Amino acid sequence: MTEPCFSQALLDWFDVSGRHDLPWQQDKTPYRVWVSEIMLQQTQVQTVIPYYERFMTSFPTVEALAQSTEEAVLAHWSGLGYYARGRNLLKAAKVVVDELDGAFPSDLEGMMALPGIGRSTAGAILSIACGQRHPILDGNVKRVLCRYDAVESWSGEKQTEAKLWLRAEALTPEARFEDYTQAIMDLGATLCTRSKPKCDECPVSENCQAWQQGRVTEFPYSKPK
Ligand code: ADE
Repeated sequence: MTEPCFSQALLDWFDVSGRHDLPWQQDKTPYRVWVSEIMLQQTQVQTVIPYYERFMTSFPTVEALAQSTEEAVLAHWSGLGYYARGRNLLKAAKVVVDELDGAFPSDLEGMMALPGIGRSTAGAILSIACGQRHPILDGNVKRVLCRYDAVESWSGEKQTEAKLWLRAEALTPEARFEDYTQAIMDLGATLCTRSKPKCDECPVSENCQAWQQGRVTEFPYSKPK
């Protein structure tokens, strides 16, 4: 399968079976997409939805968030866990309002300079909210790529991670970036799951090296002891 076939198969699947009605998929501003990506970093979609809606009701804009307090933000985070995410959200909002005139950076470096935003999250925000072409590589995408290429090393290892970024870049299509970003995350979250992956429904299983070898659940490799 050539690279465009991977993204095309994924986009065709996304059009029919992907999620299109999530709250952060409406009115896709950098602020709304940013808050959703931070909440989704360690938490599943179904859990995030009510938290996201309450958060947006209380803090509808980055200005409203920047004027808030850590107590108020963490009260909205109660139950989501990983509270550093909430603290960084407030810190980043203050930077955007106080130092950037309320406008989110429109490039990867600027986005990554904000507290709590790594390369993958920066790429996701810029592709989903701004229609820019950037690869992403979060935990879900790492699992998809480690299986697709049957990567025989731990993805947390520097060299492996660098290789995966190059693969993520090569597989990203030349159009429909925002849909592709959402599609590959959805694939990892709904079909290419850590346990009991649904390979019979997968749009790219035919060319998945792990599937061809009958070794899907052997990937991704875990951290060596
Ligand atoms: N995990 C991180 N971002 C996500 C998104 N936009 N959709 C689903 N899962 C995600």
